[in-house]
Amino acid sequence: MKLKHLISIDDLKKDEIIYLLELAEEFLPVAEGKKIRKDLEGNLLANLFFEPSTRTRMSFEVAMKRLGGNVVNMTAQEASSIAKGETLADTIKVVSKYVDVIVLRHPLEGAARFAAEHSDVPVINAGDGAGQHPTQTLLDLYTIKKESKLDRLKIALVGDLKYSRTVHSLIKALALFKSEIFLVSPQSLNLPEEILEEIERKTKIEKAELEDIIDYVDVLYVTRIQKERFPDEEEYLKVAGSYKIDLNILKKAKSSTIIMHPLPRVDEIDISVDKTHYAKYFQQAFYGVPVRMAILYELLRR
Ligand code: CP
Repeated sequence: MKLKHLISIDDLKKDEIIYLLELAEEFLPVAEGKKIRKDLEGNLLANLFFEPSTRTRMSFEVAMKRLGGNVVNMTAQEASSIAKGETLADTIKVVSKYVDVIVLRHPLEGAARFAAEHSDVPVINAGDGAGQHPTQTLLDLYTIKKESKLDRLKIALVGDLKYSRTVHSLIKALALFKSEIFLVSPQSLNLPEEILEEIERKTKIEKAELEDIIDYVDVLYVTRIQKERFPDEEEYLKVAGSYKIDLNILKKAKSSTIIMHPLPRVDEIDISVDKTHYAKYFQQAFYGVPVRMAILYELLRR
């Protein structure tokens, strides 16, 4: 596998995704603290986050450190020379001379691709605006493989399909695996037309009402309404709270159905669901560690 950067899930072929998921399985006991490995000793990772993050930033740090590597963080723009007007290109040129790999989250779609063009070291896209979040997609696929099944998967993508980069990433991978996809969203949060057309050419996909498919799907993938991406607050308020997964809705679900969410959650999954066997979202967040170990190992082992 010749991976220089990981910017979009389109950078990976299906067999490369499968390979990374298998590698993640090998790293699982290390992520759980049951086994010690030092494969990345002597390597240094820079976390450059221009947007908030809990899971992605911390799980990259944990993955790197549990494999013997080290991490430097730049989380607050105010504390860096970006505040003095330094460009992203210059920041990347400098940081890529300090470290062996850069993890970048940025509010602008395309920022990670742009950063890769200016970097001496691998760049990993940790989310670029409403664009892509490929490492989230890999951990989502790993969760589906572990907790459900990837073959002939029937999955409902629920919520903000317009702005959710986790959906825009995941749906491309689901098309590779020929999943049957149902889109459940308020009209104004529909999946962008160009993504829908691309996926329609590759697999079965249709818009649906949750009540009509809840007893059919294997996975409910729920997303938060991405308030920060709305052009104005009024538009957000029109759809805020317009869908919620609760125990009542789940009465019709198959017992094998799982609920996933990239997190953070606001109010789209009632907390009473957390204690049910359907809820896999906290386990999903943990799987970010072995999956990110696999990605770092693959990018750094040269
Ligand atoms: N899922 C995800 O990207 O979470 P964070 O925003 O906390 O990194």
